[in-house]
Amino acid sequence: MLEIKNLSSYYGESRIIPSLTMSVPKGEIVCLVGRNGVGKSTTLKSIMGMVKTPEGSILLDGKEIIGKKTYERAALGIGYVPQGREIFPQLTVAENLELGLQVNGGKGEIGEEIFELFPIIKTFMNRKGGNLSGGQQQQLAIARALVSHPKLLILDEPTEGIQPSIIEDIASAIERVNKELGITILIVEQYLDFVLSVSDRYYVMDKGEITLNGFTKDADSQAIQAKMAIG
Ligand SMILES: Nc1ncnc2c1ncn2[C@@H]1O[C@H](COP(=O)(O)OP(=O)(O)O)[C@@H](O)[C@H]1O
Ligand SMILES: [Mg+2]
Repeated sequence: MLEIKNLSSYYGESRIIPSLTMSVPKGEIVCLVGRNGVGKSTTLKSIMGMVKTPEGSILLDGKEIIGKKTYERAALGIGYVPQGREIFPQLTVAENLELGLQVNGGKGEIGEEIFELFPIIKTFMNRKGGNLSGGQQQQLAIARALVSHPKLLILDEPTEGIQPSIIEDIASAIERVNKELGITILIVEQYLDFVLSVSDRYYVMDKGEITLNGFTKDADSQAIQAKMAIG
């Protein structure tokens, strides 16, 4: 589904990612973990075309997307839920969801599957986004990314600032999005237990480089934790 090869990423003159190679196979859930500041969000922004990537390749279903603009990548089927969610607090839940349709030129409607995945959203359609709890805002942000029917969903720290009771709801929603809607998923996380429990494959990042990767079924979480420790 997604293949990143020898990719470099820069903010201005500073190189955050020297040469990244990783892949997200079709149908899988893949996670990218690592401590604060190692370049996880920059990786996702690189996939979305939001930072400078002078070298390397990003193939989506075998097609190069590196020269494409952010909206073009979205239109090709990449749904992106940024860190911190970035929903519009002054808009209603319904209006926030409708913004997700812009990816397809505002066409189409919000599918019933969205409300099945996140029943709370249907209850709160007329409420302002800013009046939802953190967990509800996260569900809204994921729902907004799903309304345009992406084939790849990328999530940046979906559990950040969310109560433990809601984290389980997010985990089961992610699994249902993958299994029932058939959407391939890439998740960035720092909360290791959560993300290893939902993922098929993991990558550990440190200072812009992958230091460990493999299948989560074979994973030694202590070894991963050690790679994530400051050092
Ligand atoms: N907009 C930006 N401009 C310049 N440097 C940035 C910007 N955003 C992040 N960085 C730097 O890039 C590095 C990686 O950041 P980031 O990808 O956000 O890490 P992570 O998501 O793993 O916490 C950090 O050193 C951070 O300070
Ligand atoms: Mg980040």
